[in-house]
Amino acid sequence: MPDNKTLLLLPGDGIGPEVTAEVRRVVDWIAKRRSVSFDIKEGLVGGAAYDADGEPLTDETMADALDADAVLLGAVGGPKWEGLPFEKQPERGLLRLRKEMELFANLRPAVVFDALADASTLKLEVVQGLDIMIVRELTGGVYFGEPRGIETLADGSRRGVNTQVYTTGEIQRVARVAFELAKKRAGRVCSAEKANVMESGVLWREEVQKLRDAEFPDVELTHMYADNCAMQLVRDPQQFDVIVTDNLFGDILSDEAAMLTGSLGMLPSASLGAVDAAGRRRALYEPVHGSAPDIAGKNLANPLATLLSFAMMLRYSFDMGEDANLLEDAIQRVLAGGLRTADIMQPGKARVSTSVMGEAIVTELDKQAG
Ligand code: IPM
Ligand code: MG
Repeated sequence: MPDNKTLLLLPGDGIGPEVTAEVRRVVDWIAKRRSVSFDIKEGLVGGAAYDADGEPLTDETMADALDADAVLLGAVGGPKWEGLPFEKQPERGLLRLRKEMELFANLRPAVVFDALADASTLKLEVVQGLDIMIVRELTGGVYFGEPRGIETLADGSRRGVNTQVYTTGEIQRVARVAFELAKKRAGRVCSAEKANVMESGVLWREEVQKLRDAEFPDVELTHMYADNCAMQLVRDPQQFDVIVTDNLFGDILSDEAAMLTGSLGMLPSASLGAVDAAGRRRALYEPVHGSAPDIAGKNLANPLATLLSFAMMLRYSFDMGEDANLLEDAIQRVLAGGLRTADIMQPGKARVSTSVMGEAIVTELDKQAG
């Protein structure tokens, strides 16, 4: 018998603990009804880790993350920790996980659910049926480039520096993920950079094109300046299938794409590393929404982005596509049935809490699995 699958749960801050708690229900359901068990270990990250240990991520938790088959993170950050020195801030915990797990490919799907299509601020016909995948480079670029820092100049004024830097290898490995995804989707990749201003953008464009020509001739590749891409995303988002871009542009474009769906509380993400010799791929899954400190601890948060992140985990880390489909279908049906958390509430629908939403998903899973 193969070993149990190991899952490290890092609930983090704000609404993180509430939304990740709902995943345990689904894990229990899968153990009971689908006979697949997960060993769950829990750890601290972000402000919660700082409060307990004085660090936004301890070496022990880092080691647990490297050992686990997959990591599920809730959210990090909040006003309570805003005054901390830069290196102690909650976000540093997340960035350390990304860097040390070498999670270079961040997959952020922006999907408009039929039941929620009119929640978007854009016109229904612009967003209905939308299904795009943003692949964001996650361990390079200006987020990690050296030199970086704030220095005081001779005249007493200060200078802040960050460096945008990419190597061919870093560009190719994330572009490869985008092309492989496109092959299973509509077969189109749009690569976004600022080749009109930045040398790193020129290199990005050349390397993505080279890889496409050499290995993915059947995938249609277009290039777009990142600012134009931001504009096209609100003008005509359906023109896109997969968008591949660097760390900073991806941060911005993925927030924009998320909002097209009208419901940040619905959007999952997967951050993937390379496949190792044993066929194992490091991976971290997290909802795109943040820690939402204003509603934390009130049983109001929407757990669906976290449950959808868990579905991505089933699909990408555990090859359990069938179970992922079951979970995604259950979510569709519960929404179609009219249940809504506060963030996606619409007239005539039933407003429910975090835990009632989680229970409803499990009830629906039971029905589907007969
Ligand atoms: C995200 C977030 C993070 C980022 C923050 C919390 C460091 O905005 O995951 O998009 O900038 O990458
Ligand atoms: Mg962001």
